Amino acid sequence: MSSQKPAGDLSEAEAKRELARLAIEIKLADAAYYKEDDPHLSDAEYDALRQRNSDVEAAFPHLKRKDSPSDRVGAEVSEAFSKVEHGVPMLSLDNAFSDEDVEEFVGRIRRFLGLDADEALTITAEPKIDGLSLNLTYQDGELVRAATRGNGQVGEDVTANARTIDDIPAKLAGSGWPARIEIRGEVYMEGEAFKALNAAQEDAGKKVFANPRNAAAGSLRQLDVAITRSRPLRFFAYAWGEASEKFADTQTDAVAKLQDWGFITNDLFKPYQDVKGLLGAYANMAERRAMLGYDIDGVVYKVDRLDWQERLGFVSRFPRWAIAHKFPAERAVTKLEAIEIQVGRTGTLTPVARLAPVTVGGVVVSNATLHNEDEIARLDVRPGDMVEIQRAGDVIPQVLGVVDPGEDRAPPYKFPQTCPECGSAAVREIDDKGEEDVRRRCTGGLTCPAQAVERLKHFVSRKALDIDGLGAKQVELFYSNGAVKGPQDIFRLARRLEEEGLPPLKDWEGFGDTSARNLFDAIDARRKPPFQRFLNGLGIRHVGEITSGLLARHYLDWESFWQVVEKAAAGDASAEADLLSIDGIGQTAITSLKDFAAESHNQDMLAGLLAEIEIEPAEAAASDSAVSGKTIVFTGTLEKMTRDEAKSRATALGAKVSGSVSGKTDILVAGPGAGSKLKKAEELGVRVITEDDWLELAGL
Ligand code: IVH
Repeated sequence: MSSQKPAGDLSEAEAKRELARLAIEIKLADAAYYKEDDPHLSDAEYDALRQRNSDVEAAFPHLKRKDSPSDRVGAEVSEAFSKVEHGVPMLSLDNAFSDEDVEEFVGRIRRFLGLDADEALTITAEPKIDGLSLNLTYQDGELVRAATRGNGQVGEDVTANARTIDDIPAKLAGSGWPARIEIRGEVYMEGEAFKALNAAQEDAGKKVFANPRNAAAGSLRQLDVAITRSRPLRFFAYAWGEASEKFADTQTDAVAKLQDWGFITNDLFKPYQDVKGLLGAYANMAERRAMLGYDIDGVVYKVDRLDWQERLGFVSRFPRWAIAHKFPAERAVTKLEAIEIQVGRTGTLTPVARLAPVTVGGVVVSNATLHNEDEIARLDVRPGDMVEIQRAGDVIPQVLGVVDPGEDRAPPYKFPQTCPECGSAAVREIDDKGEEDVRRRCTGGLTCPAQAVERLKHFVSRKALDIDGLGAKQVELFYSNGAVKGPQDIFRLARRLEEEGLPPLKDWEGFGDTSARNLFDAIDARRKPPFQRFLNGLGIRHVGEITSGLLARHYLDWESFWQVVEKAAAGDASAEADLLSIDGIGQTAITSLKDFAAESHNQDMLAGLLAEIEIEPAEAAASDSAVSGKTIVFTGTLEKMTRDEAKSRATALGAKVSGSVSGKTDILVAGPGAGSKLKKAEELGVRVITEDDWLELAGL
């Protein structure tokens, strides 16, 4: 980017080519950001592309393309959700990057409104929340629709998902709200919750999110509402769209009303009288940024008087009455001391950059992620290099690249082909689609001490056996002195200490009578673990908390379940089909279960465990519901809930939802507009019911 010609120096042909390239790049970046919740550009890189596009267009207005990115906000909506048109378009905000930009913004407004120098102009400042915007429509005080921004005109219907967010009132509180109003704000995830979610995703062998914003977007845009419900999403209200009546005179009044109606608004929101005040607010928020607990990427300024907002209006995608003053990316340059490889519970080799400590945005950073082998190759970082780092989303620092690599560098980094902890081969797996996994994995299984320790930590962790007083430190200690080699040893700890010739626990440093007794009591208290926790605790790849829950609720008792797994592992096709028939259980998890069951050391471990503990059976999932075990098809328009919500409720009640009518269909729920499916059901004599019948049947 830095070596490019100024826009005015381009030839016509160059400008044309450049606009074509930018249109494509911005489109791809938008798709990655908005649709796949997985951006491949940093915000700064993205802003630079948009800026360049505007510069070239300004220099060559006649070359502006029909599909110019400057006329578009966001991406086209994804196919998976139904589309809804916003009552009033959801626009974007222009950016200010410097104090001068802010002064210009205020000057422009004064000129536009023709204000005298001594006339007061109140402008509010509030954090720009780094999440995704949501448009909530309330009719007579009731939430009737929630939609993502989409392309600004048309968004995705995520009503069922939004209803699971506690911060979003289903009914407006207080009084004085317009009969119909669109409330707008940001869905986001707090930093702590994001970290916990990623840890759980990692445990379950699922995709981890790059930052809280992607986690929020990925969690909201779930076809399975139950997943959204399980995610800790939050919502700040900061604006409105269509409103059937006027309800405030200023932005400040309006925000107070939003609060009265039951929304959470940001407590840093405040009106100011001049540029100095705004810049003070900016400095204050920049300083508090790291402590807020959620990501913000700038400060939004808005003209307070709503009649003035109306007069100022919009220009292309942006309101003239508001602007986003962005924070500079938090970056720093430091020395890459070494690349270290960490081995996780499932054997993943993760490269970590050890850095000379450096302050980035008020936090001292000495480690950064390098993600994986391909990333190291892409960046060509080598120990000893000076590297630029960035605190992405304020959570995990990232290495952006090498700064001025000299002649005198270390040779290119060679990613280890064997596990640094146990020496076993480390391989990159090829999935069913023939694609190579970006992660390299140690094949040592439990013979690898790193994996063994990580698995033990997982086994005793909160979401698994949840043994009080047995944390990472104690596990490492017991593992290193040989007392605990596998989970089974935890339940025979006293005996194991004797066998290893170790003194009784009460005599260990840091234990003593009471804490030794407490630990044994805590272990005894877990001798009857629930099926789901136990299975999750085993740490089988792709069999995390949710999958374990599905299996537990399906098979109810451990013995029946494990018998099926063992049979499947021995090649019994009907056992495998039985597993596969469970909603939500896929081939990946099954293969992983079979692999686990086939290993003799796992068999020994399980036998050892079952000699010590008794696994508590699970409770059936609403097996007494009238639809349990039935195959249901939904068709036509549903009026009381979205199709996705209906499906997820049906599944939760133990029914199987199918997309097409066949002889196996038990019930067809037909709404208005039902067509060929209804006809076919009638031909086949399938029971056809209305949406109301369905609600009653399902006990909703
Ligand atoms: S006001 C007409 N206020 O930033 C403009 N937006 O770049 C209405 N955002 O789409 C938006 N925090 O997703 C506003 N305090 C805030 C915001 C905020 C975050 C987002 C929002 C918007 C984007 C614009």
